[in-house]
Amino acid sequence: MSDPLGPFAGAASVAVVLGSGLAGLCDGARIAYRVPYRDLPPLLEPAVEGHPGFLALADFGGRPALLFAGRSHLYEGQDPARVTAAVSLAADLGCTELVLTNAAGSLTAGIRPGAWLLPEDVIAFPARRISRFASAGRLSGGARLSPLIAPRLRESLRRAAREAGTAVEDGVLAWMSGPCFETAAEARAAAAAGAHAATMSVYPELVAARFRGIDAAVLSLITNDTAGVSRGSIDHADVMKRGAEGGRRLAAIIGRLLASRGDA
Ligand code: HPA
Repeated sequence: MSDPLGPFAGAASVAVVLGSGLAGLCDGARIAYRVPYRDLPPLLEPAVEGHPGFLALADFGGRPALLFAGRSHLYEGQDPARVTAAVSLAADLGCTELVLTNAAGSLTAGIRPGAWLLPEDVIAFPARRISRFASAGRLSGGARLSPLIAPRLRESLRRAAREAGTAVEDGVLAWMSGPCFETAAEARAAAAAGAHAATMSVYPELVAARFRGIDAAVLSLITNDTAGVSRGSIDHADVMKRGAEGGRRLAAIIGRLLASRGDA
């Protein structure tokens, strides 16, 4: 049988991981090849709705990118090395830059659902999960993680968003282990610690990218208020609905980012 990864090897220098509901970005690109994660061990088939689970070689106006449509989360109980397998695969396939996208809940009244956050850093809660993650496989403990988000790629994303007509907010992400949304007290604690939005993804992949020596940055779509900001209930359906709108904007931003890389 032919190698399903053959068409992807060396085909792009930028990879994008699409978070909850954001796979709609694929509609804004021409997809040349696409392979389900189930045919690409060690990638895990995502268990959460809104994460389709395929790898695509996409073309944005003549410029290529690898799209990982859907991800797994540590709360799904899998080996951390497998949860971050897309990062290793992107590096193995020759990508040097990784854009991680995700859904996040606002921790502050100043950042509203529908906004985009361009995080400068991450605070990870709680420590139990971090140590479990850090002790897994190749990800040994004791390494210096800062800067976790690559400043140059982050600035390129800021410029791409501006050119695409999308405002982005600066801020810090709080990584929550999930799978339940945080309590109001946890949300207030995270905000008091300096975070602006909460997510259950991205942090493990950022750590993995750091270990693999590839640049990674994050673009977070604020899909809801956390319980620290509003009393209304949070629902995964709200996250998905915002994600569908966000996917279209994301396609424009990634298109601009790739154009800037082509000129470099
Ligand atoms: N909290 C944590 N993770 C999330 C949220 C949230 O409110 N929304 C989307 N992912």
